[in-house]
Amino acid sequence: MSTTNLLKGKKGIIFGALDEHSIAWKTAEQVHTHGGEFVLTNAPIAMRMGTINTLAEKTNATIIPADATNLEDLQKLVDESQEKLGGKLDFVLHSIGMSVNVRKGRHYTDQKYDWTEKGWDVSALSFHKVMQTLYKSDAMNEWGSIVGLTYIAAQRVFPDYNDMADNKAYLESIARSFGYFFGRDKKVRVNTISQSPTPTTAGKGVKGFDDFISYAEKMSPLGNATAGDCADYIVSLFSDLTKRVTLQNLFHDGGFSNMGVSQAVIEGFSE
Ligand code: NAI
Repeated sequence: MSTTNLLKGKKGIIFGALDEHSIAWKTAEQVHTHGGEFVLTNAPIAMRMGTINTLAEKTNATIIPADATNLEDLQKLVDESQEKLGGKLDFVLHSIGMSVNVRKGRHYTDQKYDWTEKGWDVSALSFHKVMQTLYKSDAMNEWGSIVGLTYIAAQRVFPDYNDMADNKAYLESIARSFGYFFGRDKKVRVNTISQSPTPTTAGKGVKGFDDFISYAEKMSPLGNATAGDCADYIVSLFSDLTKRVTLQNLFHDGGFSNMGVSQAVIEGFSE
C-alpha cells in the first residue's frame, strides 16, 4: 500500500467505524496513512459495544459521539470537530446503515412501518441531516469532499436487501440533490460509492449473505471489492485528484454492475 501524502493538511469527520471490519475503520486507517487528520464518530450505543478507542489511538484521532439522526448531536459534532482540528473540514465520510426490519427478520411484504421509518432515518435521512448541518454552519472548505456508501439494490432487485434497497435509493438521491447546492454555493463535491457486498456487521445482517457474497464474487470479473479497496477509493475521492467529480453514484464492485452473466455463474447450471 502506498504511503504518499495525498491528504496531507486535510481535516475531516469519519462516521461509522464499529469494529476492524467496518468500511469506515479501514478508511480511517488509510486516511491516516495519507496524512489526513480527523474526528471519529459513532452512535453512543455503538461506542459502548465497539472498539473505537483502539482505532483512535492508532490514528491520533479524537472521538466525539453523535447519533446521526439527532440534529443537536450533529451540531455539537460539527462545532467541536472544527475546534479540535483547528479549522474548517475538507472531507466527511457517511458510513452508516441499519434496518430494523432486516435485523428482526421482518419480510419486505410485511414491514412494521415504525421500524421502516427508523431505518430510513438512520440510513438515508441522516445523510441529509449531516449535510444540512455542515452547510448551515459553513463548516466545509472549498473543494472539500463528502462521501456516502450505498449498494446496487438501489437500482436492481435483491429481494433479501429488504427496505434497505429503498433507503439506498433515497440516499443516492440526497447526494445529487444536496450535491447541487453544496457544489454551487460552497464548491464542495458530494458522491456515493456503490460497494460490493462486504463481510461487516451491517453486511452480514442481510439474510443469505454468505451465498450472496460468493455469487457476487463469481459474477465480477475483478472479484468483489474489499473494505480495504473501498478505503483506497475513498482516499482518492477525498484527495485533490478528483476535484470535479460530483453528483455521482460510483460503482466500486469489481465490474458487477455491468455484468449480465459470467462463465463462472453459468457453469453452475450446466448438467
Ligand atoms: P458496519 O456495521 O461496520 O457500519 C455501520 C455503522 O453504522 C456502524 O458503525 C453503526 O454503529 C453505525 N450507525 C448505526 N446507527 C447509527 C446512528 N444512529 N448514528 C450514527 N451511526 C450509526 O458496516 P459497514 O458495512 O461498514 O457499513 C458502512 C456503510 O456501507 C453502510 O452505509 C452500508 O449500508 C454500506 N454498504 C455496506 C455493504 C456491505 O455489504 N457491508 C455493501 C454496500 C454498502
